[in-house]
Amino acid sequence: MHLVLVGMMGAGKSHVAQRCASRLGRDCVDTDDLVVALAGATIPEVFAAEGEEGFREWERRAVADAAAAPVPLVIACGGGAVLDAANRAALRACGTVVWLRARPETLALRVGDGSDRPLLWAEPIRADPLAALRRLAVVRDAAYAAAAHSVVDTDDLDLDDVTSAVLAAARLEG
Ligand code: S3P
Repeated sequence: MHLVLVGMMGAGKSHVAQRCASRLGRDCVDTDDLVVALAGATIPEVFAAEGEEGFREWERRAVADAAAAPVPLVIACGGGAVLDAANRAALRACGTVVWLRARPETLALRVGDGSDRPLLWAEPIRADPLAALRRLAVVRDAAYAAAAHSVVDTDDLDLDDVTSAVLAAARLEG
């Protein structure tokens, strides 16, 4: 029922989700925004106060809330949401999951200074976000593959092309 986008930080999930939502006439939700609303704090604040573990607990609630929405949504998931097996199961069960895949080099260009992404600005990672993104991809790619029904390679596509490819992959008209 829902269209769910997963993938690494910088994959373009939020922008593409908004475009898919407007083409489908659906609402779009971003699990990071749900975490902010539930926790009453920004993502960097949640990481600072509760650590990554605390953030992941809020994220589990956010994923469960989005998955349970009674109307079809487009859901953009934070990059690490698929690491949790319960999240993967909830997302796969609630709709079609599309992995926006990109090379770490592409992601590094897109995330810029990583200022709103705690996993990229902690020292000494900050000095070399590309290395951090490579390490994360090695650990995470199997989880994205397990979560997703299909994959769109985004490296050489603009946002409109990615949007069209996602809708085609999910067999949705927009
Ligand atoms: C994270 C990705 C972020 C956000 C948090 C952790 C991750 O979302 O959930 O900083 O673990 O990859 P985006 O993928 O939207 O940047």
